[in-house]
Order: sequence, then structure tokens, then C-alpha cells
Amino acid sequence: MRRIAIIGAGYVGLVTGACFADFGNEVTCVDSDEDRIAALKRLEMPFYEPGLLDVVARNCSEKRLIFKTSLKEAVDENDILFITVGTPANRSGEADLSGVKGVAREIAAHMKSYKLIVQKSTVPVGTGALVRQIVNRNRKRKVAFDVASNPEFLREGSAVENFMRPDRVVIGTWTAKAESILSEVYAPLYLIETPMVKTSVETAELIKYASNAFLATKVSFINEMARLCEALGADVQVVAKGMGLDRRIGPKFLHAGPGIGGSCLPKDTTALVRFAADAGCELKIPKAVLRINRAQREFVCEKIVEAVGGLRGKQIGVLGLSFKPETDDVRESPGVLISKMLLGRGARIKAFDPAAMETARAVLPSAEYCSSAYQVCEGSDALVIFTEWNEFRRLDLARIKKLLTKPVMIDCRNIYVPAELKTMGFKYHCIGRGSRHS
Ligand code: UGA
Repeated sequence: MRRIAIIGAGYVGLVTGACFADFGNEVTCVDSDEDRIAALKRLEMPFYEPGLLDVVARNCSEKRLIFKTSLKEAVDENDILFITVGTPANRSGEADLSGVKGVAREIAAHMKSYKLIVQKSTVPVGTGALVRQIVNRNRKRKVAFDVASNPEFLREGSAVENFMRPDRVVIGTWTAKAESILSEVYAPLYLIETPMVKTSVETAELIKYASNAFLATKVSFINEMARLCEALGADVQVVAKGMGLDRRIGPKFLHAGPGIGGSCLPKDTTALVRFAADAGCELKIPKAVLRINRAQREFVCEKIVEAVGGLRGKQIGVLGLSFKPETDDVRESPGVLISKMLLGRGARIKAFDPAAMETARAVLPSAEYCSSAYQVCEGSDALVIFTEWNEFRRLDLARIKKLLTKPVMIDCRNIYVPAELKTMGFKYHCIGRGSRHS
């Protein structure tokens, strides 16, 4: 058992804190947002993540997980401090490190004994060194400390499972002591033989960005192939299957769609390009990935325009606004961004999402929000599926056909079988499966 403080009760912090508590540690989650901490004490989660509430509730009732607003108390009571505060992108695409720097200064001001300060939320290479410098300069007493990097690889929608059964754990340290403490924190994962990558802080920081940029590259590559498939009359799903069976390539992240979204892949790819440029290194592939991703949204928008024959005065039914299923996160969501493009070109939008109605309303206020997929179809000139939620995979298509003014469907996630929809009388459009006009 270890005593661990998690500083920043956001997405990464809450999942990390709850799961470390589940390993048997005593965990304090700290956040300066009093409302958030009060809600967490009432077991109200600030976002939707499957399975998280159970882990939080179980560990709160076992008294292994507590919530606080006082960083000073957390520093007094714990020797292992994980920094999980947000690092939003600023206007130029750089990560805003003011939260991380502020926490580093506060830790330095309060520490009276050895502390291991672990940076977990994603930060540009060099931030570990910066934290070390800030703590060094601001500490009141000459107490020893270490700084480490332990990047998170959680996917929204399956974060608890990702934490408990990770593909790997990356531990970046500069001293044997820090490496040994962090290895021990992750010891429960040795039982399931999780590979541990032990390296320097800088290398650990870069592993995270390189991984996310590579995932973005894979998706963008298959999206480009999808466009080529349409031009050549080929099927991108079969191309992806054929490629993915090569074990060096692998089948995952080869689903063509409306482009990457979410709070991580777009932001991290942008930040990587920036800090690489600052280091004098032009990264041509990640740069192209960002361009391709923007182009994919435009490509999908044009596909919709063509399918409905112009947008002015048309009503488009939209299913799925979260950037992927099993989350209410709409940050950089292609569904939201393309809906905005459609609205800007004169269409009206009726929309439904199983979890993201509230989050979407805040960023897309001019859409009309419905309580079901079928209500969305009423009077709409076309139905667009942006997110592959399970409940959109087996829709009552005969009912939908009756509700739409014209039987037009644009399936941006390739959920349905083109021949079946055609037989039912739909004008069915999808991504990269045969000719654009079929
Ligand atoms: C991503 C990474 O997958 C995690 O490993 C990482 O820890 C996390 O970012 C992070 O940095 O915290 P996440 O943002 O939750 O996780 O979402 P992904 O599942 O990676 O999906 C990203 C986007 O790519 C979504 O819009 C999704 O629809 C799209 N995608 C993904 C495709 O269009 N096709 C695919 O085959 C896979």
C-alpha cells in the first residue's frame, strides 16, 4: 500500500486515482474546483465514462479514495504526487502549461520531506525538466525530490479497462530511486505481465506524442485510401482488412470515417509539430495528417451536399455528435464540426446523441435536439450517421424510410451493407466503398 495524491480531478486524474485506489493504495484526489470536489463527494461524475462510477464508489466506501481541495494537505500527507491537470491547446496549438507550472510552484512551497512528482497528463518534451527547475527554485527548504514522467494511454470510453489492462506502462525517470518507487506503484500489473518501458523523462514524454501522432497517421492514411477507393471503385473496408492481416500493420485504427476528433489526437499532433519546429525539426508526416484531417471533413460535407442536392432550406438529420461512441465528449468532434459547416451553408439540423446532447448543445446551439433517432428523421431530407454508437447499428430502416422526406442516408462510419440499403430503396452513401455515385 502506498499513499498517492492525484492533483487535478479531470478525466485522467479521476480514472488514475480511482484505479490506483482499486490496487489497494490510499489515494487523495485534489482539485481547486470546489464544486467539482463537492459533486465527487456525492459520487456525481463530471463526465460520462463507462465503469468509472463503480470503481469510484467502491473505493470511496472502502475509504481508499478521498477528494480534497487543499493541495497543501495533499502534499503534507503524500510522498507520491501525480500531476494530472489539464494542458489545453492555446490559439497557436501549443499546450498551455500554466496549470502544470502553478502546481509545481505550490508543491515546492509546501513540501517538507522527499516527494516524487510524476507528470501524467500529456505535456511537450522538456516539461519534466521545467517542473524540476520550478520546484528547485521555489522550494522553501532543501528537501530532496524527483520528477518523473508516466504518460497516460487511456482511451475515452474504455479508460478503466485500459488502466487495468494496459498494452504497456511507460516510466520516465532520472534517478534509480524514482524508477524503483514508480515500478512498485505499478507492481500489481506485473501479475498480468504488462510490459514496462523504463527510460528517461524526455523519452517517456516523446513516446506519448509519437504514439498519438502515429494513431492519427494510421486513420488519416486509411481516410486517404477511402477517397482513392471511391475514385477507383474499390472497397476501403476490404483494403483495410487485407492490409491489417499483415501483422506488421495490424487491423486497428484502419476504419475510414469523417476524420479524427477528441481532445487528444488532433491536439497532440498539432503540439508535436509545434515543439518539433521549435527544436529545429520539421515533421512532414504529422503536418500532412493535420491537413488530411481537415480535408476529410470537407470531403464528407461535400458528399452530404451532393447527396441532398444543395443545402439551402434543407433539413439534415444527424445521429451522433460525440467524437466517438461511449463518451459525451464533443471536442473536435467531426459530427459537430461538419454540422457547423452544414448550418453555415444554409441547412437546418435535427440531431440526437445517446450521451452528448448537453455537451453538444453548448457548442452547437442552433441545432434542434431530439429525443430519439426516429424523431431526428421526421421531415428530414437526409439522415447522416456521424458516430457509430451501438444503438445506430440496428435501426428500424423501414420506419426511417417512411419518416424521411427522401430516403437518403450518408453513413460516415460504414455501419450498413450498401446492397441491403439499396434493395430497400435508400440512396445510400458511405465512405470509400465503391463509386461515389453508386
Ligand atoms: C486517444 C488514444 O487512442 C489513446 O491511446 C490516448 O491515451 C488518448 O488519445 C490520450 O492521449 O489521452 P481517444 O482520444 O479517447 O484516445 O480516442 P481514440 O479512440 O483514439 O479515437 C480518436 C479519433 O479517431 C476518434 O474520432 C475516432 O472516431 C477516430 N478513429 C479511430 C477513426 O476514425 N478510425 C479508427 O479506425 C480509429
